[in-house]
Amino acid sequence: MGDQDESSSSSFSMGKSAQERGLSYVPECYVIPTSHRARLTPQVAPVPIIDFGKFKRGSDQERAVVIQEIRTACRQLGFFNIINHGIHKSVLDGALSMASEFFELPGSEKAKFMCNDVHKPVRYGTSFKDGVDEFQFWRVFLKHYAHPLDKWINSWPNNPPNYRETMGEYCREVMKLSLEITSAITESLGIGPTYLTKKMENGMQVVTVNGYPPCPKPEMALGLPPHSDYTCFTIVLQSFPGLEILHAEDGKWNLVPQLESALQVLIGDHFEVLSNGLYKSVVHRATLNTERTRTSIASLHSLGIDEKMGTAKELVSEEQPQRYRESSFRDFLNFLSANAIAEGKSFINSLKLV
Ligand code: OGA
Ligand code: NI
Repeated sequence: MGDQDESSSSSFSMGKSAQERGLSYVPECYVIPTSHRARLTPQVAPVPIIDFGKFKRGSDQERAVVIQEIRTACRQLGFFNIINHGIHKSVLDGALSMASEFFELPGSEKAKFMCNDVHKPVRYGTSFKDGVDEFQFWRVFLKHYAHPLDKWINSWPNNPPNYRETMGEYCREVMKLSLEITSAITESLGIGPTYLTKKMENGMQVVTVNGYPPCPKPEMALGLPPHSDYTCFTIVLQSFPGLEILHAEDGKWNLVPQLESALQVLIGDHFEVLSNGLYKSVVHRATLNTERTRTSIASLHSLGIDEKMGTAKELVSEEQPQRYRESSFRDFLNFLSANAIAEGKSFINSLKLV
C-alpha cells in the first residue's frame, strides 16, 4: 500500500459534500473495525476553560487560581480550552482560510510537497500514513516546521500567494503563546515558571494543517486514529468541532465543543515524562461529517530536535520513582518510521520504565 494513495486523493476534492461528489460509499481501505468507530451523536462534555488573561494580567490571587485550574486539568484530562489568549480573531480566521485555500488547490500544485519521509521539514500527504500504518484515514495534511520562522518560511508553499504571510503571522503568535503556556504549566508542576523557557525558545514548532473532507458514512471511517502527540503540548485551532478526547477515567470519548476564538491545549507525551506521569498525555482522534470539510491547525511544541526530555528530578522521590526514560523529537521520528501508530503502538508506552 502506498503512502499517498492516488485513488483516494482524487476523491478528496474539498468543499463539496460527499453526495455532491457522487461518492456514496466508503472505500474499503478506510473502513475501520466496528469496535473502533465513533458515534454519530457523540457525548459533548464540558471541558476546563482557562482564562489566560487572568494568568497574564490578573492579581496574584487570580494567577494562583489559574495555575491551580491548569494543574487540575492536566492531571485529570491532559486537556484544556484557553480563552483570552491574546491572538486576535482575524489572525485565527486568516490561518483557517489559508488552510482551506491550500487544500482547494489543484492536486498537481499540492503534489509538489508530497513526501513519504517523516524527517522532511515540509510535506503534504493524504491519509494518516506517517510511518508504516496499515489503515487509511480520511484526511489531507500539510506539515511544516515553523520556528524559527525565518529559517523555514521560504520553504513553505507560496500558493495561495499570501499563504506564507498569513500562516506565518499565526505561527509566530502561537509560538509566543506557547512560551507563556510552558511557563504556566511548569509553574503548576511546582518546578517554577522558567524551568523550560530557554529550551523551548530554542525548541521546535511543527505545524500540521489538517483537512477532513466530507464522508458519506462518517461513522465508518476516521480522520485521525486515536493517538497522543509526542510533544510537550499541542495547540489546536479548529474550524468547527470534530476533535474527540478520551477520558482516561471512564474510557469514554467526548467531542470537544468549539467556543468562540478559543484554542485547545493537548498535553503530549513529553510533558507526561517531565511530570513523571502526574500529567497525562491525552488520547484524541478526529471524526468526520457528511456535509463540510473540517479544517484544523495543530501547532506541536517540543524541545530542540536532539534535546532529550527527561523527568524533572524535583518530581522523583523514593515514593515516586522515575517512570520514564528520556527521549527527543528525533527519537520520536525514528519510532514513527518503524511503528504502526494506528495499530496501537504508542510512543509513550515505549518510554515507560515500569
Ligand atoms: C493532530 C491532531 C486533531 C484535529 O494533528 O495531531 O490530533 O482535530 N489533530 O485535527
Ligand atoms: Ni494529535
